[in-house]
Amino acid sequence: MGLKLSIIILIFVSFLSDFSSAQSGVIDISKFGVKPNSDITQAFASAWNEACASPTPSKIVIPSSTYKMGALELKGPCKAPIEVQVDGTIQSSGNPSDLKGAEQWVRVSYVSFLTISGKAVFDGVGAAAWKQNDCGTNKNCKMLPMNFGFYFLNHSIIHDITSKDSKSFNVMVFGCNNVTFDGFIVSAPATSLNTDGIHIAKSSDVKILNTNIGTGDDCVSIGDGSKNVTVQNVNCGPGHGISVGSLGKNPAEEPVVGFLVKNCTLTETDNGVRIKTWPSAPGTSPITDMHFEDITMVNVKNPIIIDQEYCPWNQCSKQSPSKIKISKVSFKNIKGTSATPEGVVLVCSSGVPCDSVELNEVDLTFNGAPATAKCANVKPTIIGKAPTCAPVA
Ligand SMILES: *[C@@H]1O[C@H](CO)[C@@H](O)[C@H](O)[C@H]1NC(C)=O
Ligand SMILES: *[C@@H]1O[C@H](CO)[C@@H](O)[C@H](O)[C@H]1NC(C)=O
Ligand SMILES: *[C@@H]1O[C@H](CO)[C@@H](O)[C@H](O)[C@H]1NC(C)=O
Ligand SMILES: *[C@@H]1O[C@H](CO)[C@@H](O)[C@H](O)[C@H]1NC(C)=O
Repeated sequence: MGLKLSIIILIFVSFLSDFSSAQSGVIDISKFGVKPNSDITQAFASAWNEACASPTPSKIVIPSSTYKMGALELKGPCKAPIEVQVDGTIQSSGNPSDLKGAEQWVRVSYVSFLTISGKAVFDGVGAAAWKQNDCGTNKNCKMLPMNFGFYFLNHSIIHDITSKDSKSFNVMVFGCNNVTFDGFIVSAPATSLNTDGIHIAKSSDVKILNTNIGTGDDCVSIGDGSKNVTVQNVNCGPGHGISVGSLGKNPAEEPVVGFLVKNCTLTETDNGVRIKTWPSAPGTSPITDMHFEDITMVNVKNPIIIDQEYCPWNQCSKQSPSKIKISKVSFKNIKGTSATPEGVVLVCSSGVPCDSVELNEVDLTFNGAPATAKCANVKPTIIGKAPTCAPVA
């Protein structure tokens, strides 16, 4: 192409984009020729590139319909705030290899002031992939693609959208700061392996509010380097509950500081609120300031659990205790029913016992009788009604 022609095209293109941003910065992906049931991967990427380059705030609109979409990466940094309003249903391919090795179906990274809104259902069509998942028995298994990865976002809000039937984790939050999920929905069957709801690591000031999570693994889990995470007004079930950890496997892990879980209901889950660390593991970063309050348990197998001997499928030895110190943990106003006799299990490390653990108004029943508590390497402070610790046999 001649230089003159390229310059003319450049001027024309920038004229066009100035023209569209002058119209309040709305980028409707219909303009890229998208039709119902068509694949929107390219159109979405083009709309993103246009929005990201815009010096003024812009909004990408994906109108309500059913679409297909391949692996999509939305990358910043961008010049101004962006809102992506997505409605309708967006379907992934059911075949993991169609995502061409992407760790996530939708990955958003290095963006500040992003809003994702709308009522869209992002359907990972995971059923076929769950059958290929051997992570229950093979510790070197290959991770299947997740629905969403949010990496290094600042000051962003994700609201109302649904993550459905992810092939593995629904959402990974990594390296983010001040990110809020509000009115988010996670939906996957109880039998789907490793479909964790929202996993947070190396992030600060993350909030999960007014969210319903039903899944086959942890509803919310926070990994190393999580600071100041809030989970409030969240319903969890089915699933494995709300977890801190598991931690300790990696020597380079960072501390977990500040976790508030408030006004949540867990229904028929395997665990309620749980902190878990691996024994015989190198990690030493502490876990501190974990607060669980105003929580209702409905027929939960392990409503309150600290497990510093976490070792599923005998993947580890219990020869040496966990080196992770857990301190300043409170369980306050926790009510409801346990599906097992032991409502409270606090098994701390014999190497570094737990400090400042409080049971404050913990009122759990099993078959109509008060649920019991067993404790090792911890002397919880009891305030109000709460079960007394029996030693671990
Ligand atoms: C997010 O915030 C961090 C810390 O302030 C900063 O280093 C980083 O550049 C920000 N990221 C973006 C995409 O603006
Ligand atoms: C957090 O992000 C929200 C949404 O962009 C923003 O309104 C708010 O000011 C941010 N808070 C801080 C402390 O930066
Ligand atoms: C933790 O979050 C609260 C509430 O959002 C905020 O006021 C506080 O500044 C945060 N603390 C730290 C250490 O980031
Ligand atoms: C507790 O959470 C539920 C949603 O699960 C909400 O409807 C209710 O208003 C919340 N209560 C308070 C006191 O915030």
